[in-house]
Amino acid sequence: MKKPNITLFVFFIICSFTANAQSNKMNDFISNLMKKMTLEEKIGQLNLVTPGGAVTGSVVSKDVDDKIRKGQVGGLFGITGPDKIRKAQEIAVKNTRLHIPLLFGLDVIHGHRTIFPIPLGLSASWDTAMIRHSARIAANEATADALNWVYSPMVDIARDPRWGRIAEGSGEDPFLGSQIAKVMVEGYQGNDLSKDTTVMACVKHFALYGAAEAGRDYNTVDMSKVRMYNEYLPPYKAAVDAGAGSIMTSFNTIDGIPATANKWLLTDLLRKQWGFKGFVVTDYTALSEMINHGMGDDKKVAELALNAGVDMDMVSEEILKYASQLVKEGKVSVKTIDDACRRVLEAKYKLGLFDDPYRYCNDEKAKTELMSDANLQAAREIAARSFVLLKNDHNVLPLKKSGTIALIGPLADSKRNMLGTWSVSGDPEKSVTIMQGIKNVAGNDVNILYAKGANISDDTEFIKRVNVFGEEITVDKRSPQEMISEAVETANKADVVIAVLGEAADMTGESSSMTHIGLQQSQEDLLKALVKTGKRIVVVLMNGRPMTLTWEDEHVPAILDTWFGGTEAGNAVADVLFGSYNPSGKLTVSFPRNVGQIPIYYNHFNTGRPFHPGDSPKFKSDYLDAENTPLYPFGYGLSYTTFSYSDISLNTKILKPTGKITATVTVTNTGSVAGKETVQLYIRDMVGSIVRPVKELKGFQQIALAPGESKKVSFTISVDDLKFFNNDLKYVYEPGNFKVFIGTNSRDVKEADFKLE
Ligand code: BGC
Repeated sequence: MKKPNITLFVFFIICSFTANAQSNKMNDFISNLMKKMTLEEKIGQLNLVTPGGAVTGSVVSKDVDDKIRKGQVGGLFGITGPDKIRKAQEIAVKNTRLHIPLLFGLDVIHGHRTIFPIPLGLSASWDTAMIRHSARIAANEATADALNWVYSPMVDIARDPRWGRIAEGSGEDPFLGSQIAKVMVEGYQGNDLSKDTTVMACVKHFALYGAAEAGRDYNTVDMSKVRMYNEYLPPYKAAVDAGAGSIMTSFNTIDGIPATANKWLLTDLLRKQWGFKGFVVTDYTALSEMINHGMGDDKKVAELALNAGVDMDMVSEEILKYASQLVKEGKVSVKTIDDACRRVLEAKYKLGLFDDPYRYCNDEKAKTELMSDANLQAAREIAARSFVLLKNDHNVLPLKKSGTIALIGPLADSKRNMLGTWSVSGDPEKSVTIMQGIKNVAGNDVNILYAKGANISDDTEFIKRVNVFGEEITVDKRSPQEMISEAVETANKADVVIAVLGEAADMTGESSSMTHIGLQQSQEDLLKALVKTGKRIVVVLMNGRPMTLTWEDEHVPAILDTWFGGTEAGNAVADVLFGSYNPSGKLTVSFPRNVGQIPIYYNHFNTGRPFHPGDSPKFKSDYLDAENTPLYPFGYGLSYTTFSYSDISLNTKILKPTGKITATVTVTNTGSVAGKETVQLYIRDMVGSIVRPVKELKGFQQIALAPGESKKVSFTISVDDLKFFNNDLKYVYEPGNFKVFIGTNSRDVKEADFKLE
């Protein structure tokens, strides 16, 4: 028998002893403080205000300084920098009766000053260590800017590319989404929140926001509990398990009740079942928006939110206005207020703010940390790893550093559009455009000719709506025909055409839902004209959502999806175009062939009448006018090399409930350059007490292979990978037959069978 490891045992005892002692110390401190607090002062802690800045609605808090002085503010968001934050903190610490410091939050979503790819792009790297690192850098920069709280990660599963906020999440899959949720929280919070380089994470939007009907933002959500538990809730749970300090309610309804008033969600599920210990903040005005939902007047919605489990009200100020009255009328208990106040104070304690309210205000650090060379270098590498090569016929890519390149398109040289949505602290002027990146990487070896070719869109009303934060869509003085003619002339002089097309940054993100998700007409006309020249064309796509690219896929030999790659995107695109980085990204969301197919996702159920290619289509689950399959499936992405997969070998065909199965494939680099492959494991439960998805991602591994090299990749499967929530919402596994699939994406896989006893 193996000897017990005494050292490890002693270490655990010491750790748990220290943790208990720390938590007792915190409880004592907060209890003492709360004994001194009046009801009004406690209610003040539940109020989150913003003096304005990058806000997402018409409400801006009034008399902020005055309110802080009166002890009516628990936290503030929207300001950055040691100077401003020190001043606001001083008001709280010096002028309030109990000197309680404030939280300072901000939307730090994909980097703070150094901007990384939008989250959908980050997820396409499938590189969780790297994603954690991006959150670590963001936390370093955010704290250098005196912040202690970030409104990230956004972990909403999204299967509808019409929804603009699909850009802010990690795509359609609960397994991958959970892994990313976990590492983002770890990256932000580290293992000690009180360090001056860590920030408190805020998981959002709890819950199910990504399932807004018709992809229209803020719209109703309605789904079965079984779907909720198996497909939509896992990433929030993973973030909570990783120790996220706060969570934000979503704007939508769940089972007919807005999340912000949903006691089942915020108390029964989140606190009682999941054991969440942090605090719950509403989304921006989500509390008062419940009046529009038809839940009652402003006082009633404050009552509902408090009793549901909301601890902090983001800018609605209904709690500030009514909580005291509600307590007096017996509609909200003192305990409810006490619990909420305690949770907010605990967050401040954990952040070390009671020891030193100015611990994040360090002028020197701001100078060295923000947009440092190391951070920019990381941004360049991370961006390159997020790009997905969708098509590359006849190895058009990588390009040689010689000859003449026609660089065409409204996004080819647009600083304004590189950073993507939710980059509130990013400076577009510091972003590297694709034109600049190509010049940096190819130098004088290539001759670059440029033509804008088209506006991002020619639709005046649409342009006005997109340009609310600045001129992302610039309108040329020339007519569309003149621009296209110039582009065609330019193309005719070149050996290869790089057409940089896609979306303006704010065509995705909050309040940016679209019913047309293909290229805008102006760009489609341009691309058609370019194709007619007969030149080799590479489309470099900038986008925050899956786009419909059916025509492009048929007519263009190479398409590289670069999302919105952030500050260093231009350099990273050039690194990939010229082959110094071999693309390795894989889609984390399916790309539909047309809008009518939406929602389309890989882990769907089988119907009673499934359609298989070659079948007679009548009376099958299919469309008369389109295929069922997506244009590019989940997990898909090409490389400049090719990989072959052996058949799967299983070490046993029978899995015992206490046992394990090892599934192994050999992957070979069959091309002529080194490359990185993400090997994906999917499982199907063939028979269940409820219908089970046709495939579910259960693992993935990244390997690097030199040309001709082979590696064995093994996955260990246990009953934990086979569990699901049944109709009674019990987390169970069920004996029977399973299929295991391993492959390069969710469509192209090898398969094998095993049985669970
Ligand atoms: C968004 C949140 C964001 C908040 C604060 C809201 O409109 O939904 O994601 O954190 O504004 O800016």
